[in-house]
Amino acid sequence: MSEQKVLVIGGAGYIGSHVVRALLQSGFAVTVYDNLSTGQKINLFADAVFVEGDILDTVKLEQVMSGGFDAVVHLAAKKAVGESMENPQLYARNNINGAINIFNAMVNNGVKNVVFSSTSAVYGLPQYLPLDEKHPDNPMSFYGFTKIEIERVMNWFSRLKDFNYIALRYFNAVGYAADGSIKGKEINSQNLLPIVMDVICGRREKLLVYGNDYDTPDGTCIRDYIHVEDLATAHVAAIKKLLTEKKSHIINLGTGKGTSVLEIIKSVEHVTGKKVKYEFAPRRAGDPSVVYAKSDLAAQILDWRAKYKDIDEIVKTIWNMEEK
Ligand SMILES: NC(=O)c1ccc[n+]([C@@H]2O[C@H](COP(=O)([O-])OP(=O)(O)OC[C@H]3O[C@@H](n4cnc5c(N)ncnc54)[C@H](O)[C@@H]3O)[C@@H](O)[C@H]2O)c1
Repeated sequence: MSEQKVLVIGGAGYIGSHVVRALLQSGFAVTVYDNLSTGQKINLFADAVFVEGDILDTVKLEQVMSGGFDAVVHLAAKKAVGESMENPQLYARNNINGAINIFNAMVNNGVKNVVFSSTSAVYGLPQYLPLDEKHPDNPMSFYGFTKIEIERVMNWFSRLKDFNYIALRYFNAVGYAADGSIKGKEINSQNLLPIVMDVICGRREKLLVYGNDYDTPDGTCIRDYIHVEDLATAHVAAIKKLLTEKKSHIINLGTGKGTSVLEIIKSVEHVTGKKVKYEFAPRRAGDPSVVYAKSDLAAQILDWRAKYKDIDEIVKTIWNMEEK
């Protein structure tokens, strides 16, 4: 059988580069399409074709898609929750219009399968835990709204056209390839672990811990941290599933385990041998106290389970990156 071809849109970014690496390791022929807005050239692999382009450029997108692909992975998006509340136009255009451009180009060129980067932010405040895929969606941010809208468009396309999708709802993505093969650090992350690393490395004075009076064992918020290598293997499994079964799914990707902010700080101090300077600050509006995933569907449909469950092991992969 000839090599199966996958177009990875957003493949120069943080998660995308790990996905490309996993696809190449699994024998897929990969083309990356990225505008390098937050993606980086050092994240590109010599074994993958690179096309610099924007998902808002429909002409270029159609041109690339006409190359014929067995599947698309769509990771290209703006992802800062705070920014999405201040500049919804940017998020509407880049995330929603951009995704629709991709799906139109797929349909126009007979490309039938897409794996889409969705997020646990579609759920909003948990009504119960762990969060399963049946939990009502009620995003608290415009960013989360863009993702649920895109899922709905994919659902309609799958009903009307020869179009199959798997939406992967990631929980908190963290870490780097343990073998050091990804060279570029995540750009502009507003997430906890990159900020803690900035403090440890002197790029930021201190960490603000928003709220220590939550109803959790140590009073700080609890989240489900999923390693990026685990995310990457789930994408490979999702593509294989789409290519064999041609059925659409929405699937959570998490560990099923929650870790508090103070536990993260302790782990970073343990792994790096350095003290994290932090201060407690008032709660932020809209931050749920506890979020973690039920990932049974991923096990059932994709035969996928997170390998990284120990927070120290995850932090070690980040520290390796910093030390380099
Ligand atoms: N990082 C997380 O914790 C997390 C959690 C849930 C979902 N996600 C989703 O995963 C995906 C990847 O996130 P990431 O953390 O790797 O972010 P990232 O910013 O590193 O990657 C996004 C990539 O898309 C590219 N891109 C953005 N807009 C584009 C456009 N208009 N045209 C072409 N390329 C464009 C960027 O250059 C970058 O390479 C995003 O869709 C994000 O919403 C991320």
